[in-house]
Amino acid sequence: MSAVVLITGAASGIGLAVARRVVARGDRAILWDVSQSGLDAATAELGAHATSRVVDVADAEAVTRAGEAIENVGVTHLVNNAGILGQKTNWDALDVPAVARVMAVNVVGFMQVASVFLKARVAHPSAGIVNMASIAGENGGAPGFAAYGASKGAIMALTRGMARDLAPEVRVNALAPGIIDTPIQDAVMTAPDSREKAAEGIPMARLGTADEVAQAAEWLLFDAPYTTGEIIRIAGGRR
Ligand SMILES: NC(=O)c1ccc[n+]([C@@H]2O[C@H](COP(=O)([O-])OP(=O)(O)OC[C@H]3O[C@@H](n4cnc5c(N)ncnc54)[C@H](O)[C@@H]3O)[C@@H](O)[C@H]2O)c1
Repeated sequence: MSAVVLITGAASGIGLAVARRVVARGDRAILWDVSQSGLDAATAELGAHATSRVVDVADAEAVTRAGEAIENVGVTHLVNNAGILGQKTNWDALDVPAVARVMAVNVVGFMQVASVFLKARVAHPSAGIVNMASIAGENGGAPGFAAYGASKGAIMALTRGMARDLAPEVRVNALAPGIIDTPIQDAVMTAPDSREKAAEGIPMARLGTADEVAQAAEWLLFDAPYTTGEIIRIAGGRR
């Protein structure tokens, strides 16, 4: 049975890599992202098996409307992936709206997208959700980015709770990438040798690629029928 996979944050990086794999299987991808230009480029590349819509996952009304728009398209799987790093935390003068924005996109957004997906979805033998966590959810994140780490820790707990709530109809798993070479890293990899320095702390001695995460997402979506509530690190051995 063919699948229709809703992917958030699908205009770039890991989300786009997942969309490429979905389309390469002959399945269909629905791409949501805040970047119109990114979505235009992605759909131009992916062709007729991909459709897109500008959706800010932290905008409750926009997600509700976008959810209604997919109620008759037979969506079967979700990759909850849109995420932001946020800004560096200044503990002496906490920017509360900035922290709230990280939580709104990375946690509450995931929950609302899951909710509208569940309302719109049709049954599929491998029905499942993959949430994009991070090893930052375990180690606290890069120095200064504790809010991001906290948001990803929340995704880990959310994944276990959702897996329990939605079984046996829908499996819910998470991936916890390490340092993956996508645009989100540009905020922290500011020095010319940042990537080489980061690689020194990774047992596999290099950053991961978006497609290496997408490969694991594809497995969790389609080939892991007895796997739910799991969090799999894709981190080259880094903790
Ligand atoms: N790259 C890494 O090292 C790494 C490591 C661990 C986890 N992750 C997670 O993987 C996911 C994808 O990140 P990436 O590395 O591909 O980064 P990326 O910046 O390349 O892609 C993120 C995408 O999300 C979109 N986005 C941002 N805010 C949004 C919003 N409010 N609504 C909808 N779309 C939004 C962006 O426009 C972008 O296209 C994120 O959840 C990130 O936290 C990444």
